[in-house]
Amino acid sequence: DIKGFAFDLDGVLTDTARFHAQAWKKTAEEVGTKWTDELAAGLKGISRMDSLEMILKAGNCEHSYTHEQKAQLADEKNEYYKKLIDTLTPEDILPGMAEFLMEVKHKGYKLAVASASKNAPIILERLGIADMFDAVVDPAALKSGKPDPEIFVRAAELMNLQPCEVIGLEDSIAGIKSINGAGEVSVGIGDKDELYEAAIHFASTAEVSLSTIQGDPYFSKS
Ligand code: G6P
Ligand code: MG
Repeated sequence: DIKGFAFDLDGVLTDTARFHAQAWKKTAEEVGTKWTDELAAGLKGISRMDSLEMILKAGNCEHSYTHEQKAQLADEKNEYYKKLIDTLTPEDILPGMAEFLMEVKHKGYKLAVASASKNAPIILERLGIADMFDAVVDPAALKSGKPDPEIFVRAAELMNLQPCEVIGLEDSIAGIKSINGAGEVSVGIGDKDELYEAAIHFASTAEVSLSTIQGDPYFSKS
């Protein structure tokens, strides 16, 4: 039986995935990496330093920067990103997600946030939903980022649930792989081709509810 939900943040609860992309595009231009849809999709859900490495590799220039220069590039990206999230308010919760959070909370499900972002706590505050969650995984305490299962395994632990009792919601392929690897039920929100490994798929957050999830063919298969 499903007893809890683990939510990705950027691109699931709020549209900050586009701010991450906007900020990384600037970094890519600075280091001379061509910005493509494929690179943008591959960066979703990936930790700050892993994202930078991916951008440098895509431009074949990962060896041209010292450790300090890389730290500086990541810092600059984060400063720019922080300006973009400065104006977030509860209005910026993605369509249907405030209602979904209330619905599952009201029905007694456990709720956790499984985001790779070190900015997650401040974003949850700005959106006015920080108090809804039983747990927020601290990404700084993890050994490996998405697509490794660790973050979603940790989310289940913090909710005191078995992975098979948890549904994970994600907008990134790295996140879907992490949920699947953890042994949880994956819900992919966004482009179907990009999220082909998701157990359950929705084109947008507006479609997400307890009844659309429970009514998915995935649950009648077993
Ligand atoms: C999330 C986003 C990624 C971002 C990562 C780290 O997973 O989807 O795009 O790179 O968090 O975020 P941070 O705010 O710590 O740089
Ligand atoms: Mg995301």
